[in-house]
Amino acid sequence: MLGRNIASDEYMDLLARGRASAERWLQLEPEAMRQFYNRLPFAMQHRLTEHPLMQWPELKALCRRMPPREVRFRFGEIAPDADFDMSYSQRYREGLTLDDALDNLEARRAYVCIYNPERDPAYRPFLEQLLSEFAVATRHLDPGITWFSTYVFISAQGSITPYHMDREMNFLMQVRGSKTAYLWNQADPSVMSAAQKDQLLAYAGRKPQWLPELEPKAMRFELTPAVGIHHPFIAPHRVHTGPELSISLALTFRTRWSDQQTLAHQLNHKLRQLGLRPGDVGQHPLVDAAKAEVMDLARRSHARVRRLRGIDSGVPRSN
Ligand SMILES: [Fe+2]
Repeated sequence: MLGRNIASDEYMDLLARGRASAERWLQLEPEAMRQFYNRLPFAMQHRLTEHPLMQWPELKALCRRMPPREVRFRFGEIAPDADFDMSYSQRYREGLTLDDALDNLEARRAYVCIYNPERDPAYRPFLEQLLSEFAVATRHLDPGITWFSTYVFISAQGSITPYHMDREMNFLMQVRGSKTAYLWNQADPSVMSAAQKDQLLAYAGRKPQWLPELEPKAMRFELTPAVGIHHPFIAPHRVHTGPELSISLALTFRTRWSDQQTLAHQLNHKLRQLGLRPGDVGQHPLVDAAKAEVMDLARRSHARVRRLRGIDSGVPRSN
């Protein structure tokens, strides 16, 4: 499974560590957080550029010691409207290897993604330090981080991450080179309908795809070293790498609130499958909470029945 769940006592530890730490790697302006966190994307500043572990030789060494399935790569050009879930498929590997990608990154126009570098003993303390800073910055707005996962993206000039949306919040921080990030407002029903959001969070079918009429609605952000961008929960995005080698870190996380939203959307999706027309999630917090309770209860009972019948109930997560 990607990432790691955070129990409530570990969250309290993170908060304590974040408050006690003398060193700050992130600059999260309280006013910007209050106005925009989980509503609209906004730029932030950071100092990751100064950290030795975020330099290319260290990251290259990390790629070589991570389990092979945790380092995904592709070569060549990919269309901005390509299916994101297929973007690491063999079709984009051209029969080449990770060593080809690492040693000839720019010549091969390679794109490498390190999944969960926080599992590496050398990287873990630093990445948990960043998480503790986010925990402190979000503690009044969205308390209770329940899960987190990090990714390092290393890309040659001109790479594109196609249009897609993730089922969590994200801070994407540029360390080297430049990127242009396009984000869309997840609350705009012409970007994603209520039914599409229910389907997305129920992990049912394909994610909503890019359409030409969405392009004028994109919000554009230029990422340069020491600049980051916040992706609100499920905000659609597409990212273009600039004309040189780029390194960026994404720290993604879920909270009690986003878990509740997810469950409420999942119940809505089930109700739609039964031919009903449930009210949109996000309109009434109490209704969302009640829907989440029902879905959670149903899921637990279902898992219990499967356990009693000796059926494995593990569900793989896709991203
Ligand atoms: Fe993403």
